Amino acid sequence: MRVLVTGGAGYIGSHTVLALIEHQHDVIILDNFSNSHPLVINRLNELSGQTMKVYTGDLLDKSFLNNVFEQETIDAVIHFAGFKSVGESVAEPLKYYENNITGTLNLLEVMKAYQIKNLVFSSSATVYGANNPLPFKEPMPTSATNPYGYTKVMIEQILNDLAVSDSTWSITNLRYFNPIGAHKSGRIGELPSGIPNNLMPYITQVAVGIRSHLSVFGNDFDTIDGTGVRDYIHVLDLARGHVLALKKNQEERGAKVYNLGTGHGISVLQLIQAFEQENHVKIPYEVVERRAGDIGEVYADGTKAKEELGFQTEQTISDMVRDSWNWQKNNPNGYTQD
Ligand code: NAD
Ligand code: UFG
Repeated sequence: MRVLVTGGAGYIGSHTVLALIEHQHDVIILDNFSNSHPLVINRLNELSGQTMKVYTGDLLDKSFLNNVFEQETIDAVIHFAGFKSVGESVAEPLKYYENNITGTLNLLEVMKAYQIKNLVFSSSATVYGANNPLPFKEPMPTSATNPYGYTKVMIEQILNDLAVSDSTWSITNLRYFNPIGAHKSGRIGELPSGIPNNLMPYITQVAVGIRSHLSVFGNDFDTIDGTGVRDYIHVLDLARGHVLALKKNQEERGAKVYNLGTGHGISVLQLIQAFEQENHVKIPYEVVERRAGDIGEVYADGTKAKEELGFQTEQTISDMVRDSWNWQKNNPNGYTQD
């Protein structure tokens, strides 16, 4: 298939582009590079042995979008493009609603106009909110605690409504748990701008010496050691999940939803320990207050993705911490010309 990947230069998008090519799909990248570096494209060219087709522009620019669909024959769209920082979304909700919601609406309108009704969407475990029992299962009620989370809840709703209104749409919502890790080559990986919000990029920046120590946000949760438990999933497994979702869309119309996680949670202290053991690097840390809005424990029930997509994770926690570190230590300054 010829697949348009919005946000294809970003962390998950770039790994998915390579997985698609490995599975004989043709890829077109659309990105405005608002949260990614243009040099990632050189790395994708190098790793794939192909020259990427890239459209640089914004989902908010409808004439740009029309132009892409006018020029290209597209069979399906994987839609990663959006803003993803929870804290920033609380400070600047309009920016988030505009980029994530309006950007998605623009994309859907153009897809409809060109009769391309095959979509995979990046949703998030955040849609399970704070009140569901563990493990999180797809039919549970969705809710959110911040504007970023609401954009995911709303977009899932929009996509469900669209599939109900027109049964020729094939849509898959993928609810990612906590993606970490990087490509085995160490040539592409996660590159947060500024101080990382997420645990793994913070750990790797401590390990490489950019930051002195990690702050562990609370050790009084009702978890194995009191620190927050999450379901970390290797970005390579996640990327493969998108290839399976495209296959599912070909087999089944309508709106579908799947968790992409391992089904196992591990704590902050367990992740630090795994990182130190695997990589022989010390991660100094201090326990501080809980971060506002954090919940103690999050992990997926992966049964539906296993049964209906044939999705199973292959990478272990050791793989995840090794590959995250391999990426960070080989690219202390991120993407540079080489
Ligand atoms: P990322 O920021 O690395 O990638 C997003 C890409 O989209 C970036 O390259 C950015 O430049 C681009 N983009 C943003 N707005 C755009 C616009 N209006 N027009 C064109 N391009 C635009 O993020 P990621 O970690 O790869 O996440 C991808 C998707 O997965 C996002 O929708 C995110 O909300 C979702 N998600 C991520 C996580 C996570 O922990 N990384 C968890 C759950 C869900
Ligand atoms: N943590 C620390 N110190 C840090 C960063 C994180 O102790 O410097 C802890 C958190 O308290 C949490 C765990 O590490 O217990 C994981 O935190 P992340 O910020 O990496 O991940 P979250 O699960 O909190 O959030 C992620 C995404 C959100 C998304 C959410 C649910 O960043 O966008 O998963 O899907 F909404």
